[in-house]
Amino acid sequence: MRIKKAVIPVAGLGTRLLPATKTVPKELLPIVDIPAIQYVVQEAVDSGLTEMIFVTGRGKDSIEDHFDEAPELEQVLEQRGQKELVEQLRTISKMVEIVSVRQKQPLGLGHAVLCARDLIGDEPFAVLLSDDLIDAPVPCVRQLLNVFEAEGESVLALRRVPKPEVRRYGIIQGQVLSDRVYQVEAMVEKPEPQDAPSELAIVGRYILHPEIFSCLEKVPPGRGGEIQLTDGIAELARRRKVYAYEFSGVHYDVGDKLGFVRATIAYALKRADLRDQLKKYLATAMSEG
Ligand code: UTP
Repeated sequence: MRIKKAVIPVAGLGTRLLPATKTVPKELLPIVDIPAIQYVVQEAVDSGLTEMIFVTGRGKDSIEDHFDEAPELEQVLEQRGQKELVEQLRTISKMVEIVSVRQKQPLGLGHAVLCARDLIGDEPFAVLLSDDLIDAPVPCVRQLLNVFEAEGESVLALRRVPKPEVRRYGIIQGQVLSDRVYQVEAMVEKPEPQDAPSELAIVGRYILHPEIFSCLEKVPPGRGGEIQLTDGIAELARRRKVYAYEFSGVHYDVGDKLGFVRATIAYALKRADLRDQLKKYLATAMSEG
């Protein structure tokens, strides 16, 4: 079965990036000059997904506007002869079909995914978190879809992290099946390093079987009344097979201050228009700092 739909939850409060996120959705904070969400939508499109479902919340309307047409702006730019910029804006508005559903209260990532249930129906789907940027020659979601197409069951994206960092992630316990492919037996959310079953961390890309919805319904709310996606997937793994794939690519957590700065530097260094000057600046800053 071919997967067409991607759920992109964008209803979180983004408290780690306050005060910037007081009025600006964290998904629109730019990595150089492209909002984080645009990289993620591009990854979904490059992976062959055609329908994006944004789970939005209060104050997040501008995320949808970013993917909409902007006739007045285009007109002004055209009058000024800035054709390249006009083309760039048009490409964004033609990227993909977007529908949205509202999460009225930020009751957790699991709850956000559950909000997309009616728009997904009874078919497997992808979930992408815009906190996670993955720079990879083969888009990360495409790598997961390749495993899904072989196995026909849910697939989670995995990254090996240094032991002290396990407390920032959902960590799996699993059996290795073949190169980079695991079968998930259990999952622990943000364990202390001494309690972690492995150093294999779940990163924000998932292919999920629709049975996840009935699992999420059963998950009791945890801290702050939040329903965790990890708990739903743990229940799913008790009912049917769940795979995980150690993707190739570089991961940046742009929902976190240090991760955001790292991604900004890494993506700027890849840009021909910035690279040389930035390298010079970094060398000077390092020697002075
Ligand atoms: P985070 O755990 O990063 O939470 O959410 P957050 O509120 O966005 O950010 P911090 O931790 O306060 O800084 C992971 C993903 O789940 C979405 C977020 O938008 C983000 O993409 N999310 C989280 C929701 O859509 N709804 C929620 O209720 C919680």
